[in-house]
Amino acid sequence: MKQYVGFGTADERNLKSLAPMATPLISAVVQRFYDELMRHDSARAVFVGGLAQIERLKVQLAGWMKELFEGPYDLKYVEKRLQVGVTHVRVQLPQRYMFLGMELIRHELTTRLLAAGGAEVAPLLDSLNRLLMLDLAIMLESYVRSHLDRVRQLERATMEDRLDRAEKLAELGQLAASLAHEIKNPLAGISGAIQVIGDHMPDNDPHRPIVVEILRQIDRLDSTVKDLLQYARPRPLHLREVSLGAVVNRVMTLVREEPAISGRRLAFRAPDHDVNIVADDGQIEQVVLNLVLNAAHASRNGQAISLHIDEGADRVRLRVEDQGKGMTADVLARALEPFFTTKARGTGLGLSICRRIVEEHGGELHLHSEAGRGTTAVVELPRGGPERIRGQHERTHSHH
Ligand code: HEM
Ligand SMILES: Nc1ncnc2c1ncn2[C@@H]1O[C@H](COP(=O)(O)OP(=O)(O)OP(=O)(O)O)[C@@H](O)[C@H]1O
Ligand SMILES: [Mg+2]
Repeated sequence: MKQYVGFGTADERNLKSLAPMATPLISAVVQRFYDELMRHDSARAVFVGGLAQIERLKVQLAGWMKELFEGPYDLKYVEKRLQVGVTHVRVQLPQRYMFLGMELIRHELTTRLLAAGGAEVAPLLDSLNRLLMLDLAIMLESYVRSHLDRVRQLERATMEDRLDRAEKLAELGQLAASLAHEIKNPLAGISGAIQVIGDHMPDNDPHRPIVVEILRQIDRLDSTVKDLLQYARPRPLHLREVSLGAVVNRVMTLVREEPAISGRRLAFRAPDHDVNIVADDGQIEQVVLNLVLNAAHASRNGQAISLHIDEGADRVRLRVEDQGKGMTADVLARALEPFFTTKARGTGLGLSICRRIVEEHGGELHLHSEAGRGTTAVVELPRGGPERIRGQHERTHSHH
């Protein structure tokens, strides 16, 4: 950075020669600095420690200013000043104050030095300007570092959260799958036995409707169990390049037949060119289907369900929007949890499976909802598929 600003030994010499003239000026500059800050409400608000804090800071600022002229401008100088920046970040001082503060210090020091020393100090002031620019850069570096730290922390937290959820879901999935297996066989036995009893009943037997009802209920159980098995077991991704519009269109064709949906106004216009993504189209289809079914369940006849595809540079977004009953904040907060449902016959797996599939693709699933107004589900997918796969792809290609 020194090289970039062009700060060298000549500058160090210049600043040293200014020191005797500058030292007596410092306390006035510090006073002026704080007078100026106190005139701004938002700056004043930062000093929560009252007069005692300000008196302490005046001493520290004076020390900081003295070092401007004395150096040495080594690593320790930088570290010390980075630490001052860290303090400002810690008290959440907006970054823009650093420019204002530094400009105020520059202005006060240069005009006072010029007044005291006349024309012969003028050429030396250039060195002071350079150093203040360096100091500003160091101060801003503290902000950059602290923001980076925050981003990293957030990323780590998100990652851990995802792992937790994936583990929980996998466990639940296994549990559900083994339970479903346990239920399937005895169920088949019961069904067979009841059928035998039914077959031996005369047509006019008064108990016949009961047998029919039992068989109907067994059928229902059986299909629930099948659903569970199919839902709960994660399948590996079979990735290939697919047109997202075509996938959505396939789901549209499928759901138009569905009785739960036939009364809703379904709107989707595929983009006029192919929006290709690397994905498992079967699984993405399942995501779209689940989202459309949820939208349909929440809507009344005549209400619209509309789907949109938006394209970004690296990502594509699919929105499924309904004008149905929406969700309260409580429901919205839990909607993505496995087995959370508000429906008498729901399994509550739909959205959690959607999220798992979307995240396995390296994407994100978000819900926006307002009770009484409707819900929008947003699926965001990277065009190139999951990062892990992209990485492999690049590696194989770099051999050529
Ligand atoms: C841009 C030039 C500035 C310089 C050179 C400077 C210098 C310093 C120094 C040396 C410290 C003590 C650091 C420490 O304890 O580690 C400090 C702390 C502080 N500065 Fe600044 N400062 C500047 C701008 C500002 C501005 C514009 C404000 C307010 C609007 C401000 C508010 C504070 C506060 C609130 C603290 C510390 C709080 C505490 O520890 O009690 N500073 N500053
Ligand atoms: N579009 C929507 N509008 C309003 N509420 C919704 C919507 N989508 C989901 N929900 C709420 O979130 C809950 C969880 O949805 P999820 O799809 O995970 O399970 P489900 O639909 O209840 O059951 P299933 O396993 O059959 O999908 C729903 O019970 C419902 O309360
Ligand atoms: Mg559902």
